[in-house]
Amino acid sequence: MAVIHPDIYDPVSPEAHENPYPAYERLRDEYPLYRIEKHNAWALSRYQDVKEGLRDWELFSSAQGVELGEYVQFFGPGSIQELDPPRHDVLRKILAPRFLNRRIKDYEPMIRSSAQELVANFQNKVEIDLGAEFTQKLPILTIFRILGIPESEMGWATTTGLRMLNRPPNENGPTTEAYEARSQLVEFLEKEVERRRNTDYPDDVFGDMARAIDQGLMESREIQGLSLLLVAAGMETTTSLMGTIVHALATRQVSRQELQSAQGDLPQTAIDEFLRFDAPAQWLARVTTRDVEIHGQTIQKGSRVLMIFASANRDPREFESPDQLILTRDGSRNLAFGEGVHFCLGMPLARLEAKAGISELLKATPDFEMIGTPQRYQSHVIRGYESLPVILCP
Ligand code: HEM
Repeated sequence: MAVIHPDIYDPVSPEAHENPYPAYERLRDEYPLYRIEKHNAWALSRYQDVKEGLRDWELFSSAQGVELGEYVQFFGPGSIQELDPPRHDVLRKILAPRFLNRRIKDYEPMIRSSAQELVANFQNKVEIDLGAEFTQKLPILTIFRILGIPESEMGWATTTGLRMLNRPPNENGPTTEAYEARSQLVEFLEKEVERRRNTDYPDDVFGDMARAIDQGLMESREIQGLSLLLVAAGMETTTSLMGTIVHALATRQVSRQELQSAQGDLPQTAIDEFLRFDAPAQWLARVTTRDVEIHGQTIQKGSRVLMIFASANRDPREFESPDQLILTRDGSRNLAFGEGVHFCLGMPLARLEAKAGISELLKATPDFEMIGTPQRYQSHVIRGYESLPVILCP
């Protein structure tokens, strides 16, 4: 029997883009398994349901893509986010050692000097777009340096990466421009990996991939998906996290003092609380591999189910006063980085970038406040600011 639920939540609607949290509250309270007829999909919104669903990868598969419509499998073969075990695990293991917490710490000086470079560029200005000039640029510079992109290609690769990920208003899939940028990047990334093959493998991600191909663990055609996933996953999400923090500072929701620990750096609890409060990736989807009953309703094999991380993180069944941003709370069990086999590979890097990036920004700038209207990404998955115009207050 067809299920008809009232029109409460559409992930691509302007209302969800503006502020999805009132809709999430109604979903959790009234329709914990919600039917989104327009997209032929379902949604889970309570903390326990999202967490358990993400853990059960055999029932909730990623292999048919984790977004809606045309965005499914945009990165191509090798994108571990859209693979199930066992192939997922083989490819993830190639990347995993480099992204461990203890290895990632080695990149801290590089991240701090990239942040200082960016801040130096706007030292003499009074009005700056901290989105365009800082929160977007630091993550892309960082991930490109970890991948192994030569410094001489950094400018070109950054512009092309941004063109690939740009999602204009009323998008219903990647634009021709995004596909063009994608193929230029792929050609370039493949060359970078190929020229490292049968060498002594330089200490970067391209070197790791070249070694894996030579050892027969990975196929050359998987370079594209694995590299583009790292570019995308490493960029917009971290940009969003840092943008949310900059926005909160520039609108005086939080003070500089609250964001500085005894060591002068951003405390971990504050970073985790920003992630809980406004998850950079609001949701990702799965497809069921058999019929399943959830909250008294049977959904059929092959159903697309949105796992709304951002709603889970505001579930009062799990977090006290979830709609309040409390920078000292331990919100580390939030689901902003997902859960289970696809748990974010870049979590240590993202936390480090936010800590080092925002701390360097605060060290080098006087107080700043918002002038003009900040612009959010035109994405229905990513929630964060693309543009953050501020004025520096001497
Ligand atoms: C604040 C920043 C970040 C957030 C909120 C975030 C969030 C997420 C989430 C929710 C997932 C799970 C996807 C799923 O279940 O389908 C994920 C996976 C992933 N993330 Fe992140 N991410 C962030 C930063 C990064 C960075 C900096 C990297 C760069 C290395 C990265 C690399 C990945 C990769 C490779 C996966 C796929 C893992 C897999 O499928 O096994 N992420 N991320």
